Amino acid sequence: MAIRQPIVTVCGHVDSGKTSLLDKIRGSSQAKEEAGGITQKISFTLFPKENIKKGCYLLDKYNIGLQIPGLLFIDTPGHAAFTNLRKRGGSLADMAILVADINKGIEPQTAEVIQILKANKVPFIIALNKIDSISGWRLLDADLKAGIDKQAAHTKENFQEKLFSFETSLSHHKFESDLFWNINDFTQKIAIVPCSAKTGEGIPELLMTLCGLAQKFLKKELSLGEKAKGVILEIKKEKSQYWLETILYDGTLKVGDEIAIASFGEPIIAKIRVIEEILPLSNSYKNKSGAIAATGLRLQLTEKKEILPGMPFVIYQGDLEKIEKEFKKEIQDTVKIEKEGIIIKAESLGSLEALLTLLNDSGISVSRGGIGSINKADIIAAKTSYESTRENAVIAGFNVEIEEDAKEMQGNTKIIINEVVYKLIEDLIKWREDIRKRVEREKLSTLATLCKLEILHNYVFRNSNPAIFGVKILGGKIVPSIPLISKQGEDIGHIKNIQSEGKSVHEASSGELAISIPGLTFDRQLKQETFLYSDLSGRQFKAFKNNKELLAEDEKRILGEIADIKRKKEISWGV
Ligand code: GTP
Ligand code: MG
Repeated sequence: MAIRQPIVTVCGHVDSGKTSLLDKIRGSSQAKEEAGGITQKISFTLFPKENIKKGCYLLDKYNIGLQIPGLLFIDTPGHAAFTNLRKRGGSLADMAILVADINKGIEPQTAEVIQILKANKVPFIIALNKIDSISGWRLLDADLKAGIDKQAAHTKENFQEKLFSFETSLSHHKFESDLFWNINDFTQKIAIVPCSAKTGEGIPELLMTLCGLAQKFLKKELSLGEKAKGVILEIKKEKSQYWLETILYDGTLKVGDEIAIASFGEPIIAKIRVIEEILPLSNSYKNKSGAIAATGLRLQLTEKKEILPGMPFVIYQGDLEKIEKEFKKEIQDTVKIEKEGIIIKAESLGSLEALLTLLNDSGISVSRGGIGSINKADIIAAKTSYESTRENAVIAGFNVEIEEDAKEMQGNTKIIINEVVYKLIEDLIKWREDIRKRVEREKLSTLATLCKLEILHNYVFRNSNPAIFGVKILGGKIVPSIPLISKQGEDIGHIKNIQSEGKSVHEASSGELAISIPGLTFDRQLKQETFLYSDLSGRQFKAFKNNKELLAEDEKRILGEIADIKRKKEISWGV
């Protein structure tokens, strides 16, 4: 049985040292060449068996015979979403290295990556990087354990403290962890390998742990199948030619083969014209007539097709129906859609799914999800939600743009875009909370009105039929038709009309006004009174009480005063 290379994603928070670690492993300096030192896209490195053997003297020491033909590393930008490369039925990654900066502990993206790895059941080890930056650290031994032992007492103490605090925060994420040399059962605990991309300490140990784990636990997953299967990472245009950057994760592929690529509609069938394969320990490609998984390829098709990044592909041998069914299931599994929910757009299938996973954890459902820029159809869908559930009337874009014609018709449709997934979710949660409060507030205001008025005894315009007199609003607001009570809890009647500076008004929340109340005789009922309050039914009172956080301070005070009046009158509201 042939065994393929395990695919190992290297993931973790921005600047934790993912690219630097890979640089050290492959002896390159990719990190320095990146714009702003930040990885922008996924890249892969093929690391052959011979190089592992060379770089990892420990394999002999621990008597680990190397059966895997090598490792295929995938470097990811510090967005959790990129961790989420998919293949049929699971994660593309067979395993992962979660890189964390020992000085920073578990950062937001570290936590997100953990969630995604957990959800996808990807085994991982932790590279606790930058040990060289612990104060007093010196490179004292090529062997990691010996090197740590030889550090000065305070440096060692410092290291132990940081390690302990990392393990503690990890246990909050429900993972038990330990230094790799303390672990007997790797299925129970996550192995931590302290390391430095700068000095190279811990790197042989990291490779050894990876190879050991892969061989022990992934044998079945690593058996090489016959049918070519892969994932499209990116579509690039070079000199009017389109190249598909892909990972072939199973089977063999050769020039002239036809492949079926998933799409949101029917599968796209295309013939391969050129195959270029990534060279070991390099990011250059070489023209090939065929390739064996697992490897990184650039493919050129015989015709131009509309292909979306993140989509899976398989070799096409005429079984279109079966493939279509499988793709459909895969895309449906990936993009779980509810009847009601928000609208999301992302740049690739993988990041769409990552966003969905995280939204799901935050209890936000999605009614429509897609890849690419925000378009007119998305705006229309959001406008429809506005009619039913306002908090769903939003489009969340993860690292995407808004098309021009969509912008034109956007109007007051809410669009939230961010290139950092956890910030996008934060913004979304905040916006939905605000909207929910606003909607509740609107509901409350139609429910009843709270107010406290001072009677202006110098401005009694008419004694009765109806009584017309001046009032000053002390808090809350008044609208026509609300019932009023006195401080003693006597019914005063309903406001009929409100006048401000000689004009009728429909609502007022401040100032001095004249109000008219039919059925009231002022000098008999109000002569001794100073204040009037809005009357509330038991149900209305309860509604206000249950939504107290939506009330302004003066409204809360008035609600309390009305409750006191009712209590004195011994009116039971049954609440
Ligand atoms: P993104 O791709 O942007 O997510 O970052 P990354 O995780 O790939 O980190 P990168 O390798 O670009 O390193 C970030 C910074 O940390 C660079 O300035 C590196 O030189 C530094 N760095 C990485 N590893 C180490 C290490 O082991 N020790 C020290 N002292 N610095 C390191
Ligand atoms: Mg990087």
